[in-house]
Amino acid sequence: MATHKILLLPGDGIGTEIAAAARKVIAWFDSRAGGVFEIEEDVVGGAAYDAHGVAITDAAMDLAQASDAVLFGAVGGPKWASVPYEVRPEAGLLRLRKDLGLFANLRPAICYPALADASSLKREVVEGLDILIVRELTGGVYFGEPKEIRDLGNGQKRGIDTQVYDTYEIERIARVAFDLARTRSNKVSSSEKHNVMKSGVLWKEVVTAVHAREYGDVALDHILADNCGMQLVRWPKQFDVIVCDNLFGDMLSDVAAMLTGSLGMLPSAALGATDPATGKRKAMYEPVHGSAPDIAGTGAANPIAMIASFAMALRYSFGMVDEANLLDKAIAAALDTGARTRDIGGGDNSVGTEAMTATILAALDRLS
Ligand code: NAI
Ligand code: MG
Repeated sequence: MATHKILLLPGDGIGTEIAAAARKVIAWFDSRAGGVFEIEEDVVGGAAYDAHGVAITDAAMDLAQASDAVLFGAVGGPKWASVPYEVRPEAGLLRLRKDLGLFANLRPAICYPALADASSLKREVVEGLDILIVRELTGGVYFGEPKEIRDLGNGQKRGIDTQVYDTYEIERIARVAFDLARTRSNKVSSSEKHNVMKSGVLWKEVVTAVHAREYGDVALDHILADNCGMQLVRWPKQFDVIVCDNLFGDMLSDVAAMLTGSLGMLPSAALGATDPATGKRKAMYEPVHGSAPDIAGTGAANPIAMIASFAMALRYSFGMVDEANLLDKAIAAALDTGARTRDIGGGDNSVGTEAMTATILAALDRLS
């Protein structure tokens, strides 16, 4: 019986190519588990604009609302460079995040042993690295009001952005971080700048209170965001889960990501609140990279970021933790065979999207 509804939104460029790879991996787990997945597919981004004149249709949004997880490829490309702002491809992504209430962005930084030498840092600094950045995604300075460029009338203008966080927003992201830490190494580092920001003072206060009330079993420390950036580069293995606001999270997650290699390797999740009635939460999983117009259509795209995003869906939406671990192991094993797409240093011996996917499927067969 199909119990897990997936909405697959391939999008544009390499989005369609990595979505095809994801379908094969989903099919592998589906046949193993006896048909638990139901996949709907729709267009988003430029593809939706071409077909319907919008970046995502209401019908696709209904499918997203009814799904247990959205698996999103990538959107955008030069073809849509001059479409109106409200219907630009990225608007599809933003509407999904907003309408599904996806306030928690999860960005793992995992160093696969086979790629440790590809990092810009020394092997011993990154080998075995497995950290998770939990970024608040729907609040903070990107959304706070007032947000404007004000004409001061004296030949000067003033650019204004406002960092705003309410208690409930900090509480819910803190709970996501603490809950995740319990499934990992049981340690949360909360990062803000309470030394110079009022929102940072509140952030630290609320995280401390949630910890004291509900998560005494989890280790918590506080680290100023600038120091956190330094420590990520100096000795990243000191961290397990890092929780931070939208702005610091944007930067820290990109820093952490690059410890471990290429954009083509990096998955992400965006989670909403758990519905108390069903125990389910809205969720979207997507690679960090974009539609890579420079290689779209060549079959060269690395499918790992997308496949690892599905592994996160297994872990965080479907309660299939053993399967998620198996898939993560299969990705590592595929890399151990020496298979490399061009973006991770395959050079003249590079394999394409299909061959890399086949190598991962073979590893799944072998390891299961
Ligand atoms: P990009 O991530 O698409 O590509 C940057 C570079 O990384 C390119 O050289 C590309 O070939 C390479 N790359 C990315 N993913 C790869 C993969 N899986 N395998 C192999 N190589 C890979 O970022 P770019 O070029 O800045 O943006 C291209 C388009 O994608 C733009 O329209 C942008 O707005 C959009 N975009 C969409 C995102 C999304 O849908 N979430 C995120 C980022 C950008
Ligand atoms: Mg960023």
